[in-house]
Amino acid sequence: MSNKQHLSGVQAGQTYWNDWKRRNLRHWSDQEDSLNDSKWVSVYDSQTEKYHKAFEVFLKHTDQKVNAKKRLDQLVKQIPNRRVLIDAGAGNGQVTSWYSGKFEETKFNQTLAIEPNASLRDELRLTCPSCEVLPQKILEAKPKVLGDLILCSHVFYYIERDEWLANLQKLVSWLSDEGLLVVILQNHETDCMQMIAHFFGEGYNLSELKEKFDSQSSNDYQSDIELVEAHVTTEDFATAYVIAEFMLNLIPIPEPSPLRRELEQYVRKEFRYLDGGYRFSCHQDFLLIRKV
Ligand SMILES: C[S@@+](CC[C@H](N)C(=O)[O-])C[C@H]1O[C@@H](n2cnc3c(N)ncnc32)[C@H](O)[C@@H]1O
Repeated sequence: MSNKQHLSGVQAGQTYWNDWKRRNLRHWSDQEDSLNDSKWVSVYDSQTEKYHKAFEVFLKHTDQKVNAKKRLDQLVKQIPNRRVLIDAGAGNGQVTSWYSGKFEETKFNQTLAIEPNASLRDELRLTCPSCEVLPQKILEAKPKVLGDLILCSHVFYYIERDEWLANLQKLVSWLSDEGLLVVILQNHETDCMQMIAHFFGEGYNLSELKEKFDSQSSNDYQSDIELVEAHVTTEDFATAYVIAEFMLNLIPIPEPSPLRRELEQYVRKEFRYLDGGYRFSCHQDFLLIRKV
């Protein structure tokens, strides 16, 4: 029996993760505890390979998706017809795959996944082979069917603020009569958003978008906001740093980007957790919109 076969599931998972870190975190850091070798925080946008990699690190260290799924499952069961799912900004397809496919109670017969990042689209096609993939951004996409569930999860960060309302109205225009639109974004008071506010003096607020939408949409729609809690938890500093940097990149980082040293200090000071690991909140606002 090989050494690998002797490992428990937890050990094997840890070994896999250590290997993965060695292969992938080198992009950001060659050392576990000191990241001083580069002066500036890395800057990348949501259409790059680097973004894709950082997103994977985040996904491995958060309960954000598990917690989102619990609430989404309840919402999906309340939708009377589960014919079409439209996932706008589907990313790697993890969330899409929860509701894509036939026969099960929480699955939709047909899935359209809108995803402009080519690298993420490759993964999306593997995760959801039966999806129809539209390679445009929301404003350019033209789905030919209406959605009984339209999901737009953690996408609005990458949309210019003055285009938020137009994007929301576009999503709403794809709703079937008894359909539900769910727009998910981090709550503006989370540790991650406070960090963004600390470095750049601004954050995101879905409640403001809801108010704007309500004021312009007569009484044809009902909109509500719910809070779903979530955290990032890491055992080591290098991983916490990569995720903090990913969070900073939610906004277009102005030049010059913050000093790496400043972000390191912030992470050590604000996110250090009792046992020497790191923990910070990334609670999510769910904006729910239905026709009335
Ligand atoms: C943080 S990921 C979220 C992926 C997935 N929805 C989830 O919750 O895990 C954001 C995704 O939005 C996509 N995106 C960015 N701008 C977009 C736009 N204007 N329209 C549609 N998708 C966009 C990015 O390519 C990326 O895949």
